[in-house]
Amino acid sequence: MNGTREMAYAFAALRRAAARKRVYAVRAESRGRRAAARLLRAMGASEEVQARRLFNNLKGRIDLSEDFLDTVFSKELEEILAEYDRQLQLAKAGGRELQVQVLGELRRAELRLRAFYDPQRRDLKVSGDERYYLCPFCGYLATGTVPEVCPVCGAAGENFQETG
Ligand SMILES: [Fe+2]
Repeated sequence: MNGTREMAYAFAALRRAAARKRVYAVRAESRGRRAAARLLRAMGASEEVQARRLFNNLKGRIDLSEDFLDTVFSKELEEILAEYDRQLQLAKAGGRELQVQVLGELRRAELRLRAFYDPQRRDLKVSGDERYYLCPFCGYLATGTVPEVCPVCGAAGENFQETG
């Protein structure tokens, strides 16, 4: 395994930790703790750099075989959808309407990613110079042109950003 799995795990942990610090920073800011918020943002930025470096190291180890695509589309994507379903059920049972709405939108954004895989050919549905545009609020990924409004969360198309 060459430590690839462990590095991927560390990468995921760093990304999670960085994201959490951004949330804590917002909370600190709202409580008037500006210095703490600045520190938390800086720490999160540090972890993003660490994650990026690990990612760069991992890139050379990941093989883009059919097995890899199978992992992305049959395992990871379905696991995320199943987790959203589980969380949605809990939120509904708890009467947490805002959470139900957010999770529902995120689930639809993830579900949309299924469309980029052709299970018959076991390959990505991709054309030569396709452009991708991301809704920064829900993660919906548009192709070709920017939609007028995000079909998932309703954000104005002008907010979409082309991905690299
Ligand atoms: Fe959106």
